[in-house]
Amino acid sequence: MGKKPHMVAILLLLAIFTVACRSSIVSETTQESTSEKKDVTVGFSQLGAESDWRAANTESMLSALSKENGFNLIYKNGQQKQANQVTALRMFIQQEVDYIVLAPETETGWDFVLQEAKDAGIPVIIVDRRVDVADRSLYTCWVGSDFELEGQKMAAWIHEYTRSAGIAPEDVHIVNIQGTLGSSAQLGRTRGLSNAARDYGWDLIAEESGEFTEARGREVMASFLHDYDNINIVYCENDNEAIGAIDAIEAAGKRVGSDIQNGEIMVVSFDGINAQALEYLRQGKISCIAECNPLHGPRVLELIETLEAGGTPEKYNYVPETLFSSVPEITSVTVDDVTYEVDIVS
Ligand code: AHR
Repeated sequence: MGKKPHMVAILLLLAIFTVACRSSIVSETTQESTSEKKDVTVGFSQLGAESDWRAANTESMLSALSKENGFNLIYKNGQQKQANQVTALRMFIQQEVDYIVLAPETETGWDFVLQEAKDAGIPVIIVDRRVDVADRSLYTCWVGSDFELEGQKMAAWIHEYTRSAGIAPEDVHIVNIQGTLGSSAQLGRTRGLSNAARDYGWDLIAEESGEFTEARGREVMASFLHDYDNINIVYCENDNEAIGAIDAIEAAGKRVGSDIQNGEIMVVSFDGINAQALEYLRQGKISCIAECNPLHGPRVLELIETLEAGGTPEKYNYVPETLFSSVPEITSVTVDDVTYEVDIVS
């Protein structure tokens, strides 16, 4: 009678010990398998949220570098300030992330912080716009658009259109609502237009930044209309600016469209992701849009997978892009002996 409780106590202790041992084995196994399948930590510095293009780009990155795809993503919005992006990069370095992905606001001013990332052994992938650094080994690779080619294609489309409509080059009066000054998208698109204006003899009346936003596009266009009465083409460096510019043109009692000879003001732009802009394209309020593809997430994912597997990705990875237009007459344009089809939207 006196021994039974003792036996029960021993059996109980044994049971507790066995469970404890098993649970410690289980938790070790879990730790092991966690460390085997450790998430890849990525710090992503996005420059801001100025446009619909940017929103689509951020969404693409967040869904590709997701938990389900094995990523621990630290996302920072730079709020349109390079200083915020530099701070974010320094924080990523301190956190010892596995990769840094940088969508830079402007091209210059990155040498020091990228050197710090390199010294810390963290590969940096640049997306969308470029960085202008003395030492290109400061970043591993880049993925994005050929902005100058976008501008050249648009200029070639304007050339084809005005030529086929019988408009003399000196009667082409263009204003350019530029993007954020110093960004690759602005630099390339502005260069594409100004070189063409010089080569074809167009009258490039004025250029001013609309910061890639609808509100600034509206303001800049209103001031152009106030200052110049002969504008017949508005080159907007993104769709948000074009929407603002169209508002300003209509508010001034003028008509938008491709019928320049009959007093319409032609609007052309870049991106092709904004629903309102695509609707304006169908209506003929925007005559041509040079596509800028924002869906970089899966591409960055692929680049990281290549690096994780010990591979070396291409340094520069260009995204293929097209031209959209509702003007049926121009079906292709040629730039540097390469012919690009135009997607006619109806
Ligand atoms: O860098 C890409 C450009 O930035 C897009 O054309 C514009 O809409 C965005 O804000």
